[in-house]
Amino acid sequence: MRAELVCIQPECRARFALDAVLYNCPTCGGLLEAVFPSESVNVAGWKKTWRERRLNNTKLDQSGVWRYRELLPFDDGLDHVVSLREGNTPLLDAPRAAEYGGLDRLTFKHQGFNPTGSFKDNGMTCGVTQAKRLGMKRVACVSTGNTSASMAAYASAAGLDPIIFIPHGNISYGKLAQALEYGARTLQVDANFDEILALVRVLAERLGIYLLNSINPFRIEGQKSIIFELLDQLDWNPPDWIVLPGGNLGNTSAFGKALRELHDFGFVSKMPRLAVVQAAGAAPFWRLVNEGGEYVSVPKPETLATAIRIGDPVSWPKALAAIHATNGVVERVTEQEIADAKAQIGRAGIGCEPASAATLAGIRKLTAAGTINKSASVVAVLTGNVLKDPDYIFKYHTGQLQSPNGETIRPTFGNHPEVAPNDADGIAALLER
Ligand code: F0G
Repeated sequence: MRAELVCIQPECRARFALDAVLYNCPTCGGLLEAVFPSESVNVAGWKKTWRERRLNNTKLDQSGVWRYRELLPFDDGLDHVVSLREGNTPLLDAPRAAEYGGLDRLTFKHQGFNPTGSFKDNGMTCGVTQAKRLGMKRVACVSTGNTSASMAAYASAAGLDPIIFIPHGNISYGKLAQALEYGARTLQVDANFDEILALVRVLAERLGIYLLNSINPFRIEGQKSIIFELLDQLDWNPPDWIVLPGGNLGNTSAFGKALRELHDFGFVSKMPRLAVVQAAGAAPFWRLVNEGGEYVSVPKPETLATAIRIGDPVSWPKALAAIHATNGVVERVTEQEIADAKAQIGRAGIGCEPASAATLAGIRKLTAAGTINKSASVVAVLTGNVLKDPDYIFKYHTGQLQSPNGETIRPTFGNHPEVAPNDADGIAALLER
């Protein structure tokens, strides 16, 4: 199936070849997306092929991204595929978390089971494969942590040089440690994510470095596979709602595009609704969707969920289209709500990083408001692994977690470690108390 890059602006729709090194439309500045012709789509045949590939041991079929390659824009480029067996992430039922969220049942799709522990791997395998296809040597991104960890791993696995830019002091150590271990040249800049992105775009152009932020349309293509795999796992019976956190809004854009393609091509007849949840201190998309008017960025975004500490999400026009196409909603949640929801996901035996827990916090608000019905079928996407940010966890459980405005977060579901004597009788007494 031959795809092209097309400008998303309705009045422009300029078209470009897949091997053009472009992130924005050179004509009007709009965002670009890959567009597929629909003639060769074979719904029943592809569903069967995708299911059968799970039993194959080849690199492409073992990947939960490349298994769905008919809907990825790489028909001529499969020789270059760089895969760490990404995707293949589980659906987990979580009755305790459902109760906390005000639902009869709740399923998590846990992207933290990916090779570098976040959903970024679904997109990065495609982004780095495209870098190889284009013959690039150096790749770069700015990141709140997970994109850089993922890019470092995939670029190094591909023999490319990764260069990452991170906001100094505002990413978790787990993520920084990954980037160092995977061999990325790591530049800490005294600026926030949005400011550094502007800088990196200039440098990528000037130095001929391939940019792998989610403005790169090939990353978005890869992240569509989260939805393909989710619906495949549900035997193509879509849930009523799919809930995800929103930061730079790449994932919202990818989910919207995947759902539109599956719906338009006839893989599903029902469109699930997207619910995007932002941290209240970094919620420009919440404001745009709920208060209307022009898009306005947040100049100084603040949240302890550092993954989504973004005030000027580049993909907002694509994300807005996703909300419109799915009759979606956008919610915002406080630091206390994120922290408590996160502890509940942990108590369900599942665990996730702070940004991911915005989903359950948002669900709790949306069910209380009657937007989501108690009996609805809901899948929440947990975007990152629990071990990404252990510092946050320890501080929450010991009552030391402070929100950006200096207020202490209550350890509502705190689990303080206890000091025990080196003595069996003493410990027995402690445990019987
Ligand atoms: N959850 C986690 C764990 C993330 O790392 C991110 C984004 C998001 C949610 C939000 O996704 O940006 O597609 O809306 N992290 C990026 C990064 C920005 O640099 O790692 P989004």
